[in-house]
Formats: sequence, C-alpha cells, structure tokens
Amino acid sequence: IMTIRIAPSILSADFCNLQRDLDAIATADLVHVDVMDHHFVPNLTLGEPIVKRICEVTDLPVDVHLMIEDPDRWAPEYARLGAASVSFHMGAAHAPVRLARQLHDMGCKACFAVRPAEPVEPIFDILDEFDMILVMTVEPGFGGQKFLDNQMGKVRRLRDEITRRGLSTSIQVDGGVSASTASVVAQAGADVLVAGSAVYGSGDPRTAIADIRRTAQA
Ligand code: DX5
Ligand code: ZN
Repeated sequence: IMTIRIAPSILSADFCNLQRDLDAIATADLVHVDVMDHHFVPNLTLGEPIVKRICEVTDLPVDVHLMIEDPDRWAPEYARLGAASVSFHMGAAHAPVRLARQLHDMGCKACFAVRPAEPVEPIFDILDEFDMILVMTVEPGFGGQKFLDNQMGKVRRLRDEITRRGLSTSIQVDGGVSASTASVVAQAGADVLVAGSAVYGSGDPRTAIADIRRTAQA
C-alpha cells in the first residue's frame, strides 16, 4: 500500500500573509513552491529571496517546482537555500542527469517534470537518476485550471515501469487536484498530490488537506 503525501501549492496563498498561510498547512507533508520566470511559462511568481524565507520559517520539506528556462543554472541555488526537492522541466533542462547528480551532491532530491504534451517514456532510461517524476495535469503557468484526466495513462505507465524495476521513485501530480480528482490520481499510481486552489480556495486549508488525503487513500 502506497503512502499518499499532500503538497499544498502556495501559488494560491495570500502572498502578503505567507507566514499565516504556511502555518495553515502544517498537517500537509510538503509545501510546493512554484517558481515562474515569464519565459518558460507566461507568468511570473517568486524567486530566491522568498524561497529562502519560506525554507527558514516552515517545518515542512520545501518542494520547489521550477517553471523556468535554464534550470541547469538555477536549480542548485534553490538546493543551497534549503529546498528538500527541486523539480525541473524536460522542456527546459539541458543536461538533466548532470543536474540531478549535482542536486544529490547537495543533499537535495531531484525531480523531472513533464508537461501534458510530453511523453514519459524518454525518461525510462534515466529513471533511476530521479527521486520523483512530476506529471503535470494542467499546462503549467496558472493555478485554478481544470484537471486533465487524459494524463492518467501516463501516470499508470510510469507506475508500472517503477514497480517492474523495483524502484522507489515517487510520482507527483500537479494541476486541478482536489477531493474530487484525488482518487483517480491515486488509483493511477501517483503518491504525491499537489493542490493549490483546492486547499487555499476552500477557506479551510486544514479540512481541505484532510479531504484530499481521505479520498486519495480510499
Ligand atoms: C501550475 C502550478 C501548480 C498550481 C496548481 O503551473 O505548477 O502547482 O499551483 O494549482 P491548482 O491546484 O489550483 O491547479
Ligand atoms: Zn507546481
């Protein structure tokens, strides 16, 4: 039986009340921080100074999702600031294996991310280099989009490959995850569920986390 981990995305938090909104998700397993650069995705969020403070004030492992160009240059900076894991995109990384090894050398977990139109099979040959694979279930860039259930085949094929080879790789799903989609996601084989608007849009993050956890584990 797989342990499901819930990772609220602070993209939907109140950026003027980050401390409060981090405290509000203390029952989660990770905090997911979306870094966007106006180039890899058409949105701009936050960068190193804010990630640094988040790492300092939260007790949760900080999971940084880089939606930026040239992660080869920037991902190690986030590891240095204290991120527990850093995700970078297939569509942006120049040397993903080298970057994963560099992150590991810094004591940071490495995660490879694929957008909805990107296949997961090309990762199979380098799967053992990563702690986690992130399957996007929306086009990256914005919170509050509709869940793409057509990504579940990808999650299943990835889970089958991980199981077949006896690896311990986690599968993270990000985009449109809520208590209504959590069971589909978990049944397909994902074990790390990111949720932004479902957690912070609910007015009661603690209950929303519990609801997602319960439906995922049912
Ligand atoms: C989207 C981000 C997500 C986003 C998810 O590009 O990577 O982490 O915060 O938000 P929801 O859960 O609202 O789809
Ligand atoms: Zn994300």
